[in-house]
Order: sequence, then structure tokens, then C-alpha cells
Amino acid sequence: MHLQLDNKGPKHEQLARSLRLAIRSGQLLSGSKLPSTRMLSENLGLSRNTVLRAYEQLRIERLGVMREGSGTYVNDVPLSQVPVASPRRVEAQSAFAARLRDLPPITLGGGGAGLRYDLQYGAPLVNTKLVSAWSTALATAAATTSTGYPHPQGLPELREAIARFLATWRGVVADPRDIVVVGGTQQALSLSARVLLDVGAMAAMEDPCYELASHALRAHGADVVGVRTDDEGLVVDELPRQARLVHVTPSHQFPAGLTMSLRRRRQLLRFAEENSSWIFEDDYDGELSYSATPIAALRSLDTGDRVIYVGSFSKMMFPSLRLAYVVCPAGLRKDFIRAKMLEDLGCPAIEQAAMHLLFKRGAFERHLGATVLELRRRRSSLLGGLARHAAGRIEADDSQLGMHVVGWLPGFDAARVDRLVASARLRGLGLHPVHPYYRVPPPRPGLLLGFAGLFPSQIEEATRILGDCLRALP
Ligand SMILES: Cc1ncc(COP(=O)(O)O)c(C=O)c1O
Repeated sequence: MHLQLDNKGPKHEQLARSLRLAIRSGQLLSGSKLPSTRMLSENLGLSRNTVLRAYEQLRIERLGVMREGSGTYVNDVPLSQVPVASPRRVEAQSAFAARLRDLPPITLGGGGAGLRYDLQYGAPLVNTKLVSAWSTALATAAATTSTGYPHPQGLPELREAIARFLATWRGVVADPRDIVVVGGTQQALSLSARVLLDVGAMAAMEDPCYELASHALRAHGADVVGVRTDDEGLVVDELPRQARLVHVTPSHQFPAGLTMSLRRRRQLLRFAEENSSWIFEDDYDGELSYSATPIAALRSLDTGDRVIYVGSFSKMMFPSLRLAYVVCPAGLRKDFIRAKMLEDLGCPAIEQAAMHLLFKRGAFERHLGATVLELRRRRSSLLGGLARHAAGRIEADDSQLGMHVVGWLPGFDAARVDRLVASARLRGLGLHPVHPYYRVPPPRPGLLLGFAGLFPSQIEEATRILGDCLRALP
């Protein structure tokens, strides 16, 4: 601890002033123990009595508390009392920073405080069996994983497990040498942008789209254009030929929920081959299929090697894990590996080794099977609840996948949706409009209804409140 006395007035006051400043500036944190009076008096060349008087002064001001037999501690000072220096405005120091500043505010979930139920998309399904399997795997991995730098491309045994998994669950035949383990889809996007796009190059995205993907590409300097989707998915005929990269969610369009038709898939692959463009297939929840005949990933049809396939563990496990995988076209493999290496020298090895153990023990696929069953139950509760409590007022999309459905609101405009969201919030229900994901406003507004984070009984209650709010709306 660095304390400086200012040589003004009595010594105990100088010391109290210096300690007060250290507490208020956050140098001495709430709950931390102050040095013993003997140690401080020796270090500062003061008498113990002087130190005692300074500590007494802090106690009087409630900045310090005495704990019997243990010493003096910094009291809990509310953060609002700690003056924070306002940051001096600095101009953006690079074109990249300027682009970051131009992006709209970025939020990741949250905002649900004080709500009884929140139909928030992105809330994970909490599964106690998974938590215990994960803890065991993590402990084993921590004890057995090399402490040296990991393979920047991802642990070879994990890449092999991912390749086997992709063949079974997504119809994708991948060479483990083409797989790169990355820190989430988000990192896959920034690596793809670096490897494939010069500043100013065009990237096309579906409209509506996943905002974080669009932000990542824009921050990189790409010229991001939105392309219309209809009930077959991306309208490929409207793709500009200059698009170097096309970001798509073919299994489960985000957020509108539809699945890209086979005709459009073939058309898109042809477009990429004819125009030497690349397709970024964001298969964020493709494994979570409730249909008897799940649809394979776009990459499984890609004979021209134009698809960068990206799968994430965020939905199958949990988003805080920050692990995903890229299947690169073979000709781009080296570029992706180098870009990943220079970015962070590879993903944390212990988490990768624990993931591999889950695969090896069969726990991951068991968990995935159980997750699909449970999510199907929750989705039925949502659809059943909407039919019981909001029939005729809300129309759910019929997607057979994932953790959300869109509830379209016929006859609504954006202002009326805002009123609905506000009235639901007053009744403790969190609702989230879908129109912010669109560049061109949708023909009718809707709600993005996430169902993974609530139990079926809670979903029933949430839909009852939603029905009441819809009926009460003038
Ligand atoms: C469309 C889409 N892509 C990808 C992801 C997952 O991103 P990440 O792997 O970075 O967690 C999500 C998560 O919500 C998503 O909605």
C-alpha cells in the first residue's frame, strides 16, 4: 500500500486523510484489512498512538470497522460514494476504433432483473446432469492436460471427435485437419473477415439477421448489405454478384425461424461457385431438431468447397464456454490456422480436453438427446400456452428447431408492440420484439419468444400473462 503524508497539520490527521483518499479512490477495497498498527507505525516512522488515532477517525467516519481480535477493515463503501474520474475524451485512434464507435450499442441478454418470467432468447437450458458431468470432466482435464501452449488449431483428439459428431448429427463429412476450434461463432466471424475480406469488400447477410455477426463484419470494414428472405430463405436472385462472403443461417433462419429450401441451397452454392464467393454457414442450433427427418447442413451439399461451416457449443452446452468450431474449405485451412494462432495462440486446452472427455464418455451425445427432449417439451408448452391464451392474437412460426419461436402479431405496428412489451413488463413478464433484427421492417411485427430458460409450468404462466396483456391492449 502506498500512503503519502502531506505534511499539513497533526500527523494522525495526515494519516487519516491519506487512508481516506486511498479508500475513496478504490485503492483500498471494501472489506480489505488495513495493516496492523504496529506494521504501519514502523513503515511510516510514526508512533503507534498516531496510527491508532487515525484508525479511530476512520471508524468515526464509518470508513473503517474494527473486528474484535482481528483488526481494522475497510467498511463497505457504496460504489456511488467512490468518485470515479470521468474518462477524458480521446479521438478514435484507428479506422477500426472509429468503426467500433459507429456501431449501435451492443447488449448481450440481461435486462431481466425484477421480472418473474423472461422469454429471452439465448437463455441456456440449465441441466444438472450436464453440470456434474462437466465438473468431473473439467477436474480430470485439469489434472492431465499439458500446461504448454496448446495446438493453435485445437486439440487433435477434440477435432476428431467433432468430425465424428458432425457426420452423425449434421451430415457433414469433415477432415479433422480442416477443423479449427475457435472461441465462439463470434471469433469464427472475425477470422473469416480477416482471411477473406479486404476493407470495403462486400459481405451479404440475410434480412433479418444476427446483429452480432453484422457488427463483427462492419467493424472489420466490410460493406455489409442485407438481402431479403422469404419463406424459402435467402432470396439468392437478389444477392449482389460482388458479395465476397454470404452469411446465412440455413437450418434455422435467425431470427425468423424458417429453414432454407433445397432449391435455394443449391442456388446459393451455384452462386458461390460462379462468383468465387464464400458462404459462412452459421449452424448455431442445427442439432436441436424436433423433426423426425432433420435436415442436414448446407455444407453437406457443398461439392465446390465454398462453405465455411461453423457450429457452436453455446446452445448445446452453454454460452459461457466460448467454444465453437470451423470446418474450413481445404484451400483456406492454413490461412484460418495462422489467423487463429496470431489472434490468441489457441483456445484454452483444459476446456477443450474436458469437451473431448464428454464426447469420449458418450456424455455429450446423451446430454444432447436429453436436451432435445426437454426443449421439445418446453416448445410444446409455449405453443400450447399461446393457443390457449392468445389464440387469434398471435401466430407462432412452425419451425421445428432451436430455442425460440417467433410469435407474429397481426394488425400490430411497432408502437403497439412497444406498448405490449411495456404492459407485460409491469406484470413481471419480459418480451422481446423481433423488428430490431430487420433492416427493412417486416410486413407485421412479432416477438422473439425464447423458451429454453423457463420450466413448462413457468412458460404456461408466462403465456397466460401475455394473453391477458394482449386482451387488455386498447
Ligand atoms: C444466429 C446465431 N449465431 C451464433 C450464435 C452463437 O454465437 P457464439 O458461438 O459466439 O456464442 C448465436 C447465439 O445466440 C446466434 O443466435
